[in-house]
Amino acid sequence: MSDSSRINHYANAMFRYEVLHESWLHSCERYLKYVFGDDGVHGRVVIDYAFGRGNWAVAFARCGAARVIAIDASEDNCRRLRSYCAEQRIANVEVICGNLVEQDLDIGGDLLWLYGILHHVADADSFLEKLLAKVAPDGAVLAYTYNANSLREWMVSAARACIHFKDEDSFRAHSLWLTPAARIRARDDLVAPHITWDDAAAFVARFVRLGWHPSAQVQDFPPWLHDTHSGEFNPYVVKFLRRESQLFVRPQEDKHADLEILRGLGAAVSARLPQAMRTSFAIGLFNTHFQMAPMLIGSDGAYKTNAQVAWEDFKYLLYAATLLSVSEQDLPPGLGGVWNAAMCSLRGEHREVNADSLGGSAILERLATTSIRI
Ligand SMILES: C[S@@+](CC[C@H](N)C(=O)[O-])C[C@H]1O[C@@H](n2cnc3c(N)ncnc32)[C@H](O)[C@@H]1O
Repeated sequence: MSDSSRINHYANAMFRYEVLHESWLHSCERYLKYVFGDDGVHGRVVIDYAFGRGNWAVAFARCGAARVIAIDASEDNCRRLRSYCAEQRIANVEVICGNLVEQDLDIGGDLLWLYGILHHVADADSFLEKLLAKVAPDGAVLAYTYNANSLREWMVSAARACIHFKDEDSFRAHSLWLTPAARIRARDDLVAPHITWDDAAAFVARFVRLGWHPSAQVQDFPPWLHDTHSGEFNPYVVKFLRRESQLFVRPQEDKHADLEILRGLGAAVSARLPQAMRTSFAIGLFNTHFQMAPMLIGSDGAYKTNAQVAWEDFKYLLYAATLLSVSEQDLPPGLGGVWNAAMCSLRGEHREVNADSLGGSAILERLATTSIRI
């Protein structure tokens, strides 16, 4: 299967149920003004690479862009955006069905919008080299990428190691097992042909190598829109200019101790997981991980998901571990204390744990005080 036909399957799975609507477009327009300033888009030529549903392309046109070159490898997405623009009489969005990984594109612009795509390109460096050459020297680039060392990275990677849907039909055949919040993420993260998780330094280095420097780290769209932030997933969203800068892109700050526990226990479970259970393990993990996410917004507007999501994922792994007769010997050496605390907790016994022994673990803290049922 060529890259383009894989992308077609993947884009169908993601966007079949999504339509552009007024309040969404209005929010996108406001976000573009937040990123580029009130007049930053006016009169500019914008390249929206991998436009997906076309929400950003249309929002750029509404912000006064002179022209928007909207590119996507999926024919279906291109057909839909062309007909939307025709219906709405939007004349300055030019839709191109293309894939720069496979063929050169004769395009050029002042602003490059690279939102939600870089982490899906297998050879991101060669791709960027070709694409950044299309941007005017005094132009700007907005790039987004998935962040490494997050709870989301661990969870998606663990699930993808068990099931990776090759096309839309196989995703649809399994999709009724997924809860709505999990389904919306799984149709991207379990279908996408490729995912890279960059840390802040690696992400910035891809651009600096090509002469583009970070000029601002901005909030991602959902947290900006809802005035929240999520502890379990913080994609990097950075504006780059062709001008030296000292801007330091802040790295992700998850609780590494909890990630270490999940990685260790997850690897022990995965090593014992028979082929016949791998799909159900991955789907159960997605359902578990996303069950709390939308509910836990604190009074300060922050999602309080980090500790709670890690705790739910941990209990899920513990259930799988007991089902598969995982024992302490199967775990990395540092996790013996966690395992013993979990076994005591399951029996309802009092246990002494030192939550700081792993550098401050929310999972261990809860194990000390909670009798868990799995
Ligand atoms: C996560 S989605 C959407 C990203 C979109 N910019 C957004 O903000 O919603 C990824 C999109 O990238 C397209 N795509 C994937 N790889 C591509 C490539 N190499 N070239 C062009 N489009 C690609 C897919 O067809 C899909 O529409």
